[in-house]
Amino acid sequence: MTAPLIDPFARAITYLRVSVTDRCDFRCVYCMAENMTFLPKKELLTLEELDRLCSTFVGLGVQKLRITGGEPLVRRDIMKFFHSMSRHLDSGQLKELTLTTNGSQLERFAKDLYAAGVRRVNVSLDTLDEEKFARVTRWGRLPQVMRGLDAAQAAGLKVKLNAVALKEFNEDELFTLTEFCAERGMDMTWIEVMPMGDLGNEDRIGQYWSLRDLRSELAKQYTLIDLAERTGGPARYVQLQETGQKIGFITPLTHNFCESCNRVRITCTGEIFMCLGQEDVADLRMPLRAHPHDDAPLEAAIRAAIDRKPEGHDFDYSRQKADGQVSRHMSHTGG
Ligand code: 5AD
Ligand code: SF4
Repeated sequence: MTAPLIDPFARAITYLRVSVTDRCDFRCVYCMAENMTFLPKKELLTLEELDRLCSTFVGLGVQKLRITGGEPLVRRDIMKFFHSMSRHLDSGQLKELTLTTNGSQLERFAKDLYAAGVRRVNVSLDTLDEEKFARVTRWGRLPQVMRGLDAAQAAGLKVKLNAVALKEFNEDELFTLTEFCAERGMDMTWIEVMPMGDLGNEDRIGQYWSLRDLRSELAKQYTLIDLAERTGGPARYVQLQETGQKIGFITPLTHNFCESCNRVRITCTGEIFMCLGQEDVADLRMPLRAHPHDDAPLEAAIRAAIDRKPEGHDFDYSRQKADGQVSRHMSHTGG
């Protein structure tokens, strides 16, 4: 047995988030600039390289794999990768294979994802208003995502909705979104907007709406029961007594969740980020490509990176300018 991945603060790394592309068919204002320059193809890990990288992590004790982007489902032949990963579900080494998606391609892929062993998906959706949806995603169209949600649920996938909390944008949809999810049997998570990159947004969407305020607003109409459960990430959950649904709050800026962190992130170029809020990064592509038939150098590089995992992040909104700001885009590290 190889030794599992344990970081310097005695945290076991069992959760890997992998961005399979930096591209997306949307241009959400808080995530991307309108005209993005994407990476040249040769920089990207091939699907075979992604497979080898993920499989190595699984061999080192990773039990949960989340595929992200950009938009993972716009990567060519991505279903081959999902089907290939399902062998680790069959072997029992991997407990969960999941993805975060904008929903635009779910109508096409929902059944196939289920066939590959995916049982849950997170769909990003900030508004139920067509005009607002077009504004916040710039290129997205709401009906397409709605058909995606329908297809996902029809295929048997459990859907969780992720909404970025945006002041003066979806504040007025707190209850409509909650009810929408309740009717469809979906849990929901609110995400505080993070200071990511310079997106050159002239329009004002993207303002910080504190989840503490959001929560007290929600408590005016529902009874919130605090749930103890943590996923090792920044989310905290409540249950709405009236509907039974779970509502999560991801507050990376206002709460410290780092002590229970069990995850690392890999970009589509094979960089590993040990912490979402820190710039420190290690390259796994070099050992991967330099030794196509020997996983030992790759394993050593992974262990060396985990040995550098920091204790926590430095996001801080209380300073003059958003401090601890990281300059990369969310589509780079994959949410
Ligand atoms: N702040 C918070 N969430 C963000 N996302 C993208 N950019 C940001 C940001 N700046 C979210 C998307 C999606 C996930 C992939 O990351 O809305 O839910
Ligand atoms: Fe695409 Fe998601 Fe970024 Fe929106 S938030 S542009 S859907 S990657």
